[in-house]
Amino acid sequence: MSDFPQPKPPRRPRYSGKNPRNFSEKYKELHPDRYADDLQKILDSGKTLAGSHRPILLPEILRILNPQPGHIAVDATLGYGGHARELLAAIQPGGLLIATDTDPLELPKSEARLRALGFPPDSLLIRRMNFAGLQKLLAETTPHGADLILADLGVSSMQIDNPSRGFSFKIDGPLDLRMNPQRGLSAASLLTKLSPPQLEKILTENADEPHAALIASSLFTPSSPIITTTQLAHRLRQILQTLPTTTEVDLSIRRVFQALRIAVNDEFSALDTFLRHLPKCLKPGGRLAILSFHSGEDRRVKHALKSSFLLGDYSAIAPDILRPTPDEQRSNPRSSSAKLRWAIRSA
Ligand SMILES: C[S@@+](CC[C@H](N)C(=O)[O-])C[C@H]1O[C@@H](n2cnc3c(N)ncnc32)[C@H](O)[C@@H]1O
Repeated sequence: MSDFPQPKPPRRPRYSGKNPRNFSEKYKELHPDRYADDLQKILDSGKTLAGSHRPILLPEILRILNPQPGHIAVDATLGYGGHARELLAAIQPGGLLIATDTDPLELPKSEARLRALGFPPDSLLIRRMNFAGLQKLLAETTPHGADLILADLGVSSMQIDNPSRGFSFKIDGPLDLRMNPQRGLSAASLLTKLSPPQLEKILTENADEPHAALIASSLFTPSSPIITTTQLAHRLRQILQTLPTTTEVDLSIRRVFQALRIAVNDEFSALDTFLRHLPKCLKPGGRLAILSFHSGEDRRVKHALKSSFLLGDYSAIAPDILRPTPDEQRSNPRSSSAKLRWAIRSA
């Protein structure tokens, strides 16, 4: 034993109540290496650990994409790297995983986790970029295209759970909603620039919000701009107070956040470009799987796959959507709205 006094482990943050409620206080979840047993209990209770993300429909996606040693695989939405980790392992030896994500805050952490798995350094190529640019990246790196491509659309649990990203109406934080906070306008700034008709259009087109007109005409109070997530939620509760149930109010609030998120990240135009380029990104016989989380995304995926199939670019497409089993939905409630579609590039 050393004669020198050992440094004390850092004190856990102080918090009120029995369990930590705020993201930064969740010291066990933010240090998974030290608290594995406690964290398994949290997972068994159907929650997602703060700072992580649980891959959805993983066995089904692996069955559809059928990754094999030597394959070139693309994960266009790396997130926490849950799907990527399995793809990377399955294509060894000799395979290459190209992973992209637009999020500059989470991407380096996910890259470090994947590199720590110990696969050859050149089996992994990571780029912070919008997947709308995938065709260009592949033309530069793998001109014959990829054997398989995965896109798991929307936002990660790390983005939702981190109050400073402003994705959740349940946690107070700046009303930001950008996947890349270094680009474009935050949702708070966007709100100051929209006219009521423009806001109504965004709410209707991006989230099918039935109360779009009422919300758009009532939300604007130039004397007190909305700058935080909970201010927006509070304003919406006031505007929608005549709805019969709080569940309906909460659903509308959720849709308003979704619509603003889609607007600030220009999600539909990125998705349309990605879908249009996909056939050219795949090798003949290459496979594609796309997970979507709301009807606006799924409609686009469905129509794009169908029109490329009719043009002969795909030899087969999913006849219907695949959904998580009731067991998966129970153990990971965030999987509940997921819809999976696939396609196979013509030979
Ligand atoms: C649902 S998460 C992916 C989770 C991942 N499959 C996993 O297992 O951890 C979606 C990710 O896609 C990223 N993303 C969304 N739209 C994007 C786009 N247009 N280009 C690149 N990344 C995007 C988000 O930043 C987020 O990290």
